[in-house]
Amino acid sequence: MSSTPVNPNKALWEKGDFTRIAESMRESGEALVQRIGITPGLKVLDLGCGDGTTALPAAKLGAEVLGVDIARNLVEAGNRRAAEHGLANCTFREGDATNLQPISDQAFDVVVSIFGAMFAPKPFDVAKEMVRVTRAGGRIVMGNWIPNDPTLVAQILRISSAYTPPPPEGFVSPMTWGVESNVLERFTGAGVRAEKISFTRDTFTFGFDGPPALFVAEFKNYYGPTMNAFGAAEKDGRAADLQKELEELFRSQNTSTHATRIPATFLRVTVAR
Ligand SMILES: C[S@@+](CC[C@H](N)C(=O)[O-])C[C@H]1O[C@@H](n2cnc3c(N)ncnc32)[C@H](O)[C@@H]1O
Repeated sequence: MSSTPVNPNKALWEKGDFTRIAESMRESGEALVQRIGITPGLKVLDLGCGDGTTALPAAKLGAEVLGVDIARNLVEAGNRRAAEHGLANCTFREGDATNLQPISDQAFDVVVSIFGAMFAPKPFDVAKEMVRVTRAGGRIVMGNWIPNDPTLVAQILRISSAYTPPPPEGFVSPMTWGVESNVLERFTGAGVRAEKISFTRDTFTFGFDGPPALFVAEFKNYYGPTMNAFGAAEKDGRAADLQKELEELFRSQNTSTHATRIPATFLRVTVAR
């Protein structure tokens, strides 16, 4: 009897329930979409869309939006949310950023990927696919977390990596998408001229209606990468240390006195086709 091999990339994101974390990202997701020039009628692909934090706002602005994500549960959640918001112009489908077939060449005016495609393996294939499905004269907008940045997400990763076994040989860290030289290499490798690629630092603010320690609990219980870090830490009897380090991080970065608001810096990449 043959069985389908597990795709660890897919399994990681289907674990837990990313919607619980996405709830803290809605406000900044919407604000970001307002800044990137989405207009009625544009064909937009949101790649690694999750449950639609940026796809739904883009559809509300009148774009024709397809959200593609590797996690089946998030695709289902996205379709549910689009229906709840009455957005017939927003659909979600399962797919892998490393190979977007059967999407045809130049099918979209804008390809958006906010902390999405950066998590796919094979970054050169991902760049190639994003370029392939964007029409000549269109553009790609990526939001990527930055390695070693002092703000929240890079610091969660730094802390968690001290509790987890080293990744398998050949593993390319998603955070390399936050390094301009890597991004340039990947998109020029896909045939884009370097002068068509631009970078800016931007800020995304996580908002949670509770104290930082409860926000850490959301990550521990629902965010695949943090769930894995706690799993490994538990085996070593170090889960309490991980919890303490994360709580200190979240508390020190919180800018709110009555809830949790944590700004995080990211690299915004724009590629003109
Ligand atoms: C941090 S979440 C961000 C989701 C969404 N863009 C947002 O801002 O809320 C990363 C997303 O990338 C998706 N993803 C990871 N690897 C992928 C791949 N190979 N192809 C498509 N989506 C992928 C995950 O399933 C997850 O929904």
